[in-house]
Amino acid sequence: MRQETFSVLQALAEKHTGQFLHKNKQVLFAGRLTGLAFRTGHDSIDALARHIGDFRPGANLELEAATALLDRHSRFVSERRELAPLFEQVIAPALARTAPGPYRIWCAGCGSGQEAFSLLILLNNVLPAETVRRIDLVATDISEAALMRANAGLYSHFEVQVGLTAGNLIRYFTQASEQRWQVSPALSRQVQFQAHNLLSPEDAPGRFDLILCRHVLGGMTPEHRARAEQALHRHLNPDGHIHLVG
Ligand SMILES: C[S@@+](CC[C@H](N)C(=O)[O-])C[C@H]1O[C@@H](n2cnc3c(N)ncnc32)[C@H](O)[C@@H]1O
Repeated sequence: MRQETFSVLQALAEKHTGQFLHKNKQVLFAGRLTGLAFRTGHDSIDALARHIGDFRPGANLELEAATALLDRHSRFVSERRELAPLFEQVIAPALARTAPGPYRIWCAGCGSGQEAFSLLILLNNVLPAETVRRIDLVATDISEAALMRANAGLYSHFEVQVGLTAGNLIRYFTQASEQRWQVSPALSRQVQFQAHNLLSPEDAPGRFDLILCRHVLGGMTPEHRARAEQALHRHLNPDGHIHLVG
């Protein structure tokens, strides 16, 4: 990739997603853009970068390129090590304290959905069904590709082996094929996946009692990270809690 191309991509990623592209990962970024370059009739990433502005308005190739560049690595979260402390210290006391209305949770930058499903598994394991019905879980991401995977709820054999216990796999998934596992419809119904850019706080899906934002803000430039964090705080209910990782 030419130096001008990398500079164009770096500026695009920052403008649309707030994410900072490190120079030493250029090969990785080129790989993420190859599919988009060929789909749009360009024979190289350099050619795509040269024409990226020509597609506006309408097609918004800029945004597509910026989201294709993102790190979308998602994984199931360990119930015992990572989520149980959050449940014991934040969720359980809040459920006990608040009136029996909805308890709203937002997974911001949810990737392919594993984080939201991990949380639901924990809640279903430890709470009575009527309390689980109080939970209103919204999970958002800027990437349509990540949201498509989250809505499909299909994970590879390798993915379910990271962070999920065998008991939870059997209870909440069915084996769709030799290599893939499908989240149960009952669990899928408990979360709404939506598109949302953390840099566009006006589009946020309401106010929440708990906001999780894991492995998203750490990749942003300091200015964008500060903006996104402020926006998350503005969408917190009084006595709400923000769980930031990375
Ligand atoms: C490394 S993944 C982490 C996913 C998930 N939180 C987890 O820990 O498994 C980061 C996610 O943040 C999303 N993301 C990055 N910048 C974003 C932005 N400005 N607005 C919304 N989502 C963003 C990416 O699309 C990606 O799915």
